[in-house]
Amino acid sequence: MILEGKAKILTDGIFYNPRMKFCRDLDMLVFSESKKHVILDAFSATGVRGIRAMLEADCEVFFNDANPKAVEVIRKNLKLNELSAEVSCKEASTLMREGTFRHIDIDPFGSPANFIESACFSAEILSITATDLEALCCKDSAGLRKYSAFVSKTDTPHETGLRVLLGYIARTSARFEKAIEPIVTWTKEHYYRVHVRLKRSTSQSSKMFEKTGYLLFCPECLRKDVVNWGETPEKKCVCGKKKLLLGPLWLSEMKDREFVDKIAKNTEGEAKRFLLKISEEIDLPFSYNLQKLCSKIGRSVPPTEEFIRRLKAEGFKASSTHYCGYCIKTDADLGDLRRLLSS
Ligand SMILES: C[S@@+](CC[C@H](N)C(=O)[O-])C[C@H]1O[C@@H](n2cnc3c(N)ncnc32)[C@H](O)[C@@H]1O
Ligand SMILES: [Zn+2]
Repeated sequence: MILEGKAKILTDGIFYNPRMKFCRDLDMLVFSESKKHVILDAFSATGVRGIRAMLEADCEVFFNDANPKAVEVIRKNLKLNELSAEVSCKEASTLMREGTFRHIDIDPFGSPANFIESACFSAEILSITATDLEALCCKDSAGLRKYSAFVSKTDTPHETGLRVLLGYIARTSARFEKAIEPIVTWTKEHYYRVHVRLKRSTSQSSKMFEKTGYLLFCPECLRKDVVNWGETPEKKCVCGKKKLLLGPLWLSEMKDREFVDKIAKNTEGEAKRFLLKISEEIDLPFSYNLQKLCSKIGRSVPPTEEFIRRLKAEGFKASSTHYCGYCIKTDADLGDLRRLLSS
């Protein structure tokens, strides 16, 4: 028997990943802060996330898994934790189209892309895990197939992946006249996790296209620029190389800072530090990797915090990122970054 949070879990051969405990710890903080409502745990496996949500976040949970063996295990685990809840054994997309669920949690093996449309149909809150890193930030053919987005490896794949995923949710929601508002989003190890609100509003969902667009990236000098819908980008970079147009992707805020600060107050240790890092990140649509920039210009890499202080002293906005010790966010342009890294 496994103990995770307040839950006791038997796996009996059903998928359970102990490495996702930290993710579920953060989820509990997010769920606790949302008003009491029913969450559809559409890909329950052992039921660990839903059971923890019932025990730790006072949520009502509707469990589901397409595997009948998993459904047996969820029922056993509910009993073991002295809980009762509805459990179904359906294909998640079918279930999401059949009923109305205010909050849906999507945690499939690999890509969530296939399930996002059915989830956007009824949800007001979506919590989504993605582990298809190739499709979200590296491989053009996979990105185009799964997310209708062109991706290529940049120096900051974490940021690109989160923004491609959010961009896809935003475009899909817009079909249902809903606009998205990220609550909190992060990437760690092998996965991305996003919690977003979906608001039904024709005007906001139309305006939502101002919050998505493209990223123009030069693989040679690592220059990055935003391109909005309908704009014609400059193909050639100032360094003489051809730039790549990545996306579409989300270009707006990736979190509700007030919400993140609130949940950070309710925890301690690694979770608190992680949430505060997310909160402190400035909301600019892309980031730079100091290690990669320094290797391009043949300089040694400065300590990140020290370099951030320097940027601020020069009057720029700058912050670290939650996902990579060498990545920073700043409104300084590439020329300024190179000048400061070289001096
Ligand atoms: C990654 S596991 C879920 C892990 C679980 N949420 C947790 O926190 O431990 C994915 C689960 O989704 C189920 N599944 C896969 N495809 C499905 C589908 N189309 N509809 C419903 N369940 C599905 C699998 O049987 C598996 O148990
Ligand atoms: Zn260039």
